[in-house]
Amino acid sequence: MQGKHVLVTGGTGGLGLGVTPEVLRRGAYVTLPYRSRANAERLKSLVSPSELVRLQWVEADLLDEGRVAELVQGMERVDGLIHLMGGFSMGPTPSYSLEQWRQDLDLNLTATFLVCKHVLARMLEQNYGRIVTIASRGAVQPAGQLAAYAASKAGVVAFTKAIAAETKGTNVTANVVLPSVIDTPANRKAMGTENAGEWVKPESLAHTICELASEAAGDIRGAALPIYGNL
Ligand SMILES: NC(=O)c1ccc[n+]([C@@H]2O[C@H](COP(=O)([O-])OP(=O)(O)OC[C@H]3O[C@@H](n4cnc5c(N)ncnc54)[C@H](OP(=O)(O)O)[C@@H]3O)[C@@H](O)[C@H]2O)c1
Repeated sequence: MQGKHVLVTGGTGGLGLGVTPEVLRRGAYVTLPYRSRANAERLKSLVSPSELVRLQWVEADLLDEGRVAELVQGMERVDGLIHLMGGFSMGPTPSYSLEQWRQDLDLNLTATFLVCKHVLARMLEQNYGRIVTIASRGAVQPAGQLAAYAASKAGVVAFTKAIAAETKGTNVTANVVLPSVIDTPANRKAMGTENAGEWVKPESLAHTICELASEAAGDIRGAALPIYGNL
């Protein structure tokens, strides 16, 4: 990834705390959209000053297509997209509101479409690109109370595979990873630390995500990779 220009969405979130520093360690230039300044500061504290110079912060809501287009157009090149943005929700289906359902689909699936749409146009122009999206174990092993989340992440898997098919014959690839529970600060807060040792570490996911986003992974297309650790 040395010298590559990589867009990392959701790079200030819990998983981003492992992924964004790893992308920088591998020598890439990172464009990082964010909304919460507190989360941006949390990430900043993990990055060395010599690596911070390769990090470009852009305040942007990625559900706004105009902002997504501007963000992507503002990059010198777009060699990689690591699309971490997403979010978890749960609740029994009979009382799940249509509004919440739409928010879940927007956050997980529509944002994936918007970012990939604009990034793909640049990558196809360059005839080079690596796209890695994040679904979840729930996309392929859906559990009760998680219908909207599971459906939106299953959509991310299908969408990523469709892109992989669409880009066959080019030097653009797309793959999706399916984590189980990740050891993030939010999960520790929500579920306690008793079982945290079994959860997948952001640094471990970061390693695999960066391998898929690297030039060497040009023959891996349309993979949906389970990363469940010991769970
Ligand atoms: N945590 C888990 O156990 C787990 C398990 C399986 C899969 N996943 C998936 O892994 C990915 C990362 O999870 P995480 O735990 O790191 O989530 P997280 O801590 O909630 O972080 C979400 C990230 O997405 C960004 N984001 C949300 N809405 C946005 C918007 N409209 N525009 C721009 N940025 C937006 C957030 O930025 P701001 O904070 O600035 O809003 C934040 O950086 C997600 O796709 C999640 O579904 C997580």
